[in-house]
Amino acid sequence: MLRNADTFFMNRIIPIASGKGGVGKSFLTVNLGVTLARMGKTVILVDLDLGGSNLHTFLGIKNSRAGIGTYLNKQADSLESLVIPTSVDRLYFLPGDGLYTSAVQQHYFQKMKIIKELPHLVADYILLDLGAGTNHNILDYFIPFPQGIIVTVPETTAILNAYSFLKSALARSVYRQFPPRSEERVLIQEFFRQRLEGSGTSLFTLADKLSEHNQDQGKAVRNLLETFYPGVIINMGRSVSDRDLGKNLRIICRKNLGISLQYLGYLEWMPGVSRSITGRSPYCLDHQDQLSSALEGVCRRLEKIVPEKSIPLFEGDEDLDNLNWAGPAR
Ligand SMILES: Nc1ncnc2c1ncn2[C@@H]1O[C@H](COP(=O)(O)OP(=O)(O)O)[C@@H](O)[C@H]1O
Ligand SMILES: [Mg+2]
Repeated sequence: MLRNADTFFMNRIIPIASGKGGVGKSFLTVNLGVTLARMGKTVILVDLDLGGSNLHTFLGIKNSRAGIGTYLNKQADSLESLVIPTSVDRLYFLPGDGLYTSAVQQHYFQKMKIIKELPHLVADYILLDLGAGTNHNILDYFIPFPQGIIVTVPETTAILNAYSFLKSALARSVYRQFPPRSEERVLIQEFFRQRLEGSGTSLFTLADKLSEHNQDQGKAVRNLLETFYPGVIINMGRSVSDRDLGKNLRIICRKNLGISLQYLGYLEWMPGVSRSITGRSPYCLDHQDQLSSALEGVCRRLEKIVPEKSIPLFEGDEDLDNLNWAGPAR
């Protein structure tokens, strides 16, 4: 594949995450990829669910190709050399850790190397299938890209986990706006340790606090809150009332976190999905129904979003590896 000119990136990088496992991230990554490819876009699917890589299964590709695990074990020089075609036109795949299961250890600088290399891959869309939860390895792939997707099923625990994920992502992102060992980091840590929910404070309060020290610092946080524009997908919906849960999550995120969450789509539970996985053929290739139409709707909404530049974050923080103090949703 060709390399973009260093200063001109044309791809949109969309990490796909969830607070809870088994909500349909991999299913969505593949089927959104197929749908975008059928709309004429060039798409690369990246399996970053290290330790649980299974995107190849959804694509009907054997788990024997070099991928991110090979790269992390320094057995490949570039991500570009690991990208392989799929049976769908314009749809490409960058495998996970098939050849290096469980032995893969991700160091901070390696993650950063991957994050910096992704924008150089030539594609319209790069979809990152992440693992579930708020582990720092997952958050670090989510926060540099302002238009990530959070997937949830319509169950209270899953919705709370989705909210927790967004809160943790935002906390880490705000923190990394400031240099290691800075006064601001201490203030931010304190702010997140206190109860945020129900206290009438959003991150705009934090921005105001930082402004008391320095106008520019408050502005940096306000800019982040305006730039961070993730989307939510409710998957495996079973009743009309499930549809409203995305709207509710949107309202809570606005009120408690101060961010806009876009409701990208509501997808129903369909019995054919598990058959398509057993049959190793992406669902939307063989079905023309409300689920495939809803997937098209999500892709149209993604197309309408004006792409933002990636979020600038401070690097080189060994101490960040254990940082996850945003805590559960209360
Ligand atoms: N819309 C849907 N309807 C029915 N089953 C679904 C749907 N989305 C996902 N699934 C099922 O849920 C299971 C988990 O999906 P998967 O994509 O592997 O989740 P994750 O990647 O989040 O762990 C799969 O076995 C799949 O069959
Ligand atoms: Mg998965």
